[in-house]
Amino acid sequence: MRGNILIVDDEPIILRSCEKTLVPEGFDVETETSPIRALKREDLNRFDIIITDLKMPEMDGMEFIKEVRKSNQEVSILIITGYPSQETLKESLSLKVLDYLPKPFSPSILLEVVTKTMEMKSKVTASESRPAEYTDEMVQRLDEIIDAYKNKPGALIPVLQEAQELFGYLPPVIQKHIARGLRVPVSEVHGVVSFYSFFTMKPKGKHNIKVCLGTACYVKGAEEIMNNLKAGLRIGASGMTEDRKYSVDTVRCLGACGLAPVVVVDKDTHGSVTPVNIMHIVKQYE
Ligand code: FES
Repeated sequence: MRGNILIVDDEPIILRSCEKTLVPEGFDVETETSPIRALKREDLNRFDIIITDLKMPEMDGMEFIKEVRKSNQEVSILIITGYPSQETLKESLSLKVLDYLPKPFSPSILLEVVTKTMEMKSKVTASESRPAEYTDEMVQRLDEIIDAYKNKPGALIPVLQEAQELFGYLPPVIQKHIARGLRVPVSEVHGVVSFYSFFTMKPKGKHNIKVCLGTACYVKGAEEIMNNLKAGLRIGASGMTEDRKYSVDTVRCLGACGLAPVVVVDKDTHGSVTPVNIMHIVKQYE
């Protein structure tokens, strides 16, 4: 079993389709159509992930999350909503929501987000040791950065930005170090790192390729582009080529849906990409 998940949504069809995606992949899924009933569950604290809708007749999803957070700071929370807005995005960040999926979303996106969340949880719990590639000087520099921002309001984001410049990425061990230094919960650090696309938890290759798997790109063949790219570059489980020349990531919308399917290589946006021309595009960066 890969993790316990509670899904709260007043639409039974959404619950069924999430179950259909997650249960065959080994997740233990329970569902509730009522957030009030969900809050009354005696086993509410046993879930690793809670996925909730926002607009529900009995109780607003944000209110539900606030109630959950009163007794549980550690559970990972994901939002699924048909009404995304800047206000709810901002509010969800302050409630340490890890991801925000606009409906409709594809089964592969849901599976990817849930899998990443579970992987991250187990890494944050298990990883205490410092990888050999981090020298004492680098860690000392990180401590100086933390000291410079400590006790200042809004310290977390600038510290994360400088830490990412220093290490190239923000693995769990660095997130924990920052959490300890700034005296904030590690779940808060992880929430911010997951929320902003400019933060990364994985090391990047010399050229980073982002394939959009948002709805507009997905329906125009983004998944096949992704498959061809991974096969063409021989991307391994690390998401990188062996020579660290290329790394591949997925994103959910790059705000350029009119150009779908969209792929970004470093800072260049490529629109109307096809499964056939993706490798020609990438080869330009040789
Ligand atoms: S869905 Fe791909 S750019 Fe919007």
